[in-house]
Amino acid sequence: MKTKIINTPDMLKAASRKKSATVFMPATFDKKDQLETLVKGEKYYIHTYGCQANVRDEETMRGLLEDVGYKQTDKPEEASLIIINTCAVRENAEDKVYGEIGNLKHLRKKNKDLVLAICGCMVEQPEILKKLMETFTEVNLYFGTHEIAQLYSLVYDVRTTKERVVAIESKPGEVIEITPACRNNTYKAYVNVMYGCDKFCTYCIVPYTRGKERSRHFEDVLRECQELIDNGYQEITLLGQNVNAYGKDLDEGKDFADLMEAVAKLGIPRLRFTTSHPWDFSSKMIDVIAKYPNIMKFIHLPVQSGNDRVLKAMGRRYTRESYLALVKEMREKIPGLALSTDIIVGFPNETDEEFNDTLTIVDEIKYEAAFTFIYSPRKGTPAAKIADNVSYETKSKRFMELVKHLEKHIEAHSKTMVGKTYDVLVDGVSKTDKDMYSGYTEENKLVHFKGNESMIGKIVKVKINESHTYSMMGEVVNG
Ligand code: 5AD
Ligand code: SF4
Repeated sequence: MKTKIINTPDMLKAASRKKSATVFMPATFDKKDQLETLVKGEKYYIHTYGCQANVRDEETMRGLLEDVGYKQTDKPEEASLIIINTCAVRENAEDKVYGEIGNLKHLRKKNKDLVLAICGCMVEQPEILKKLMETFTEVNLYFGTHEIAQLYSLVYDVRTTKERVVAIESKPGEVIEITPACRNNTYKAYVNVMYGCDKFCTYCIVPYTRGKERSRHFEDVLRECQELIDNGYQEITLLGQNVNAYGKDLDEGKDFADLMEAVAKLGIPRLRFTTSHPWDFSSKMIDVIAKYPNIMKFIHLPVQSGNDRVLKAMGRRYTRESYLALVKEMREKIPGLALSTDIIVGFPNETDEEFNDTLTIVDEIKYEAAFTFIYSPRKGTPAAKIADNVSYETKSKRFMELVKHLEKHIEAHSKTMVGKTYDVLVDGVSKTDKDMYSGYTEENKLVHFKGNESMIGKIVKVKINESHTYSMMGEVVNG
């Protein structure tokens, strides 16, 4: 198979941050009409790995595909277009992708028209792309996180030329307003407020794969939120790798606190946001969260480590003391606040004492939820160049110990919920019991209860009867 290379990724270009981003709204999409005549009710299969940014990208791609007549299927063997939307944040996310493509590649032999595509963060890394291209000759389309607006022309070209197409341009990034999206959920929605990240934490690949930190226009975000409210949505999550930096690259004189306040005032019943870097979290933001009852009292505030030497080596721009001071201010101003976090164990050369500082900060803060990771070297990042003297066995032991500490506090918090009544936004029915439904409290606790289909997408009152570490059992009260 011949390969047509439109562009390939370049880590140096990906790290460049000189130009300011441009925002544009494509009025038409190249080769849309041509693809539409070709597709006629064919099916697509899409599988997304990784974070909410990828999930939101999937919704944009689905919107584009359904607009030209593709129908979604969950059976790859029925599809004429397969898209694997990948994550590069840790090695185990990448390993799953290699496994899945291995299982799908034989389908190309059965269907000569099949477009087998890999997109997302993995292909933004030159060495990974090379490895994928060498290992999986069956894959006939690679495109990056910046090429979603070109989806029609890329798929059309593969279909008509039978060549393999590679289109991955590393660039500081643009904001492209693509509508309509095909949302995965009818009452909860993610709304991007910004793309990319300029923090360059030394372990993290995201600033290279997703490019420059760039904000959407204030009015564009508000318009999308208003449309969701008009369509009956109950919950909006404002999304960005680092939402607190919102607006810094625009000259609209607005920051994230202004944006949150404006969305809260539109009247969405539940407003959430993620992710927050502690360094940019302003007092003004804390005040806005405290002021509006429809902004959920739940903040995801990644700490990564509790030790100053490690935080510095990670390039996190805060100290243990300043993080604790921020949490203190939040808890003082926002009664009932629930905090969650991300923690990396086994950063290169982390000592027992340094790891112990992570345990003590966890014991001090008593998070209500946490995501924990063993450090995974990402080629091209500064941390990956550090010679590491900590064995994997030590890292695993530390990981288990950390989880024990976290669970102790999460369990203790869960127990305090028993006997109390919470507002729960109902998600759906259990796979194993047709009478059991589940949903999340304002503080993001998972609750199971007896319910019925009419409750899905509504906020109901649930009294908690029983607590487990990660979920609650309760009963609906007041109808
Ligand atoms: N190794 C382990 N965990 C990582 N994360 C990001 N990069 C790495 C890495 N190289 C974690 C951080 C981040 C979360 C999304 O993923 O904790 O907050
Ligand atoms: Fe990665 Fe740090 Fe940016 Fe988060 S803030 S995406 S950890 S570089």
